[in-house]
Amino acid sequence: MSFKISDKVDWVGKIDWEIRDYHGKEYSTHKGTSYNSYLIRDEKTVLIDTVWQPFGKEFVANLKKEIDLNKIDYIIANHSEVDHSGALPNLMMEIPNIPIYCTKNGAKFLKAHYHKDWNFIEVKTGDTLDLGKNKLIFVEARMLHWPDSMFTYLTGENILFSNDAFGQHYASELMYNNKVDNAELFQEAIKYYANILTPFNPLVVKKIEEILSLNLPLDMICPSHGIIWKENPLQIANKYMEWAKDYKENQITIIYDTMWNATRIMAEAISYGIKEVNKDITIKIFNSSKNDKNDIVTEVFKSNMVLVGSSTINKGVLSSTAAILEMIKGLSFKGKKAAAFGSYGWSGESVEIITEELKKAGFEIINGGIKEMWNPDELALDRCKDFGKSIGKIVGETIK
Ligand code: FEO
Repeated sequence: MSFKISDKVDWVGKIDWEIRDYHGKEYSTHKGTSYNSYLIRDEKTVLIDTVWQPFGKEFVANLKKEIDLNKIDYIIANHSEVDHSGALPNLMMEIPNIPIYCTKNGAKFLKAHYHKDWNFIEVKTGDTLDLGKNKLIFVEARMLHWPDSMFTYLTGENILFSNDAFGQHYASELMYNNKVDNAELFQEAIKYYANILTPFNPLVVKKIEEILSLNLPLDMICPSHGIIWKENPLQIANKYMEWAKDYKENQITIIYDTMWNATRIMAEAISYGIKEVNKDITIKIFNSSKNDKNDIVTEVFKSNMVLVGSSTINKGVLSSTAAILEMIKGLSFKGKKAAAFGSYGWSGESVEIITEELKKAGFEIINGGIKEMWNPDELALDRCKDFGKSIGKIVGETIK
């Protein structure tokens, strides 16, 4: 399958309807994904990125139907991660001397992945490649999201090939943002941002400002996953600017795990207390052992405050609580508040452990949390509700 997206550019990638896990099991892809590769035909012919390795043979076979491979003059590798470079070994068997344009880190990483001494041409921000009528302009995008990442802009057609940035793990043959369900599209875009790009917020702001300051005309943003931003393409860059500035909505996310339901009952009692004093706030409650961790992280991203609860087990916390805290810590959220809760039978360390982990993760700890022994009775539930009320008031004051 190929798809003409402008006079000189064809999409020649692969839609992966089936994939449900990415980065091992670190990222869920409920709606599949696509590996977008683009073929530019000017006086020179250029291939931008490839696809994931399992589709390498299929990719090359399809590309041969599109063009005589020997007519390709250059390959651009905007990013070396295997979901975009995976078909290179298959392709380079056919055209072994073709120059591969990439950043210095790109060349280093591609060599480390494939152990081949291909014809790498290293480029930096501002370097250009003349294609005849139009040219390519390269912009390094270090840490968006790898040290090798790069954007490539095509003059004349006014297209920014942004690789992972502005992408979404979202399989669709409709190709464009104005054709697909925008609720689904933005859910996948924010999930991607929350789970992958949050640690690089300051770099995202800087890079988008840099791109905008170039005043390049922009007809399309073509990422390497998901749909192409064709209608008002800058809307996703504007969203990124919003998300990159320590984004939060009027939302509290309560995450818990529970052995025999006591911590779950506490979570719900706390939520009733919050709601009693703060009717407008969105409260979302997740059992971390039963929900997708990336979906939970997306809700944390949207939250003003996060409450994390666990029963105490073996002087520690339940394993799903430990896992979600580790994920949250790695993402370096800023400007969010947090507190802990949990039930216990005898030693009761979970609340202190969670509080400490949330502090290490960069959250502002609003109090020492609440713990209740065994199964909460009416008095204990009243205490949880009061705890919720105090939290609801704090968040209400923050939002005002
Ligand atoms: Fe889609 Fe960083 O690879």
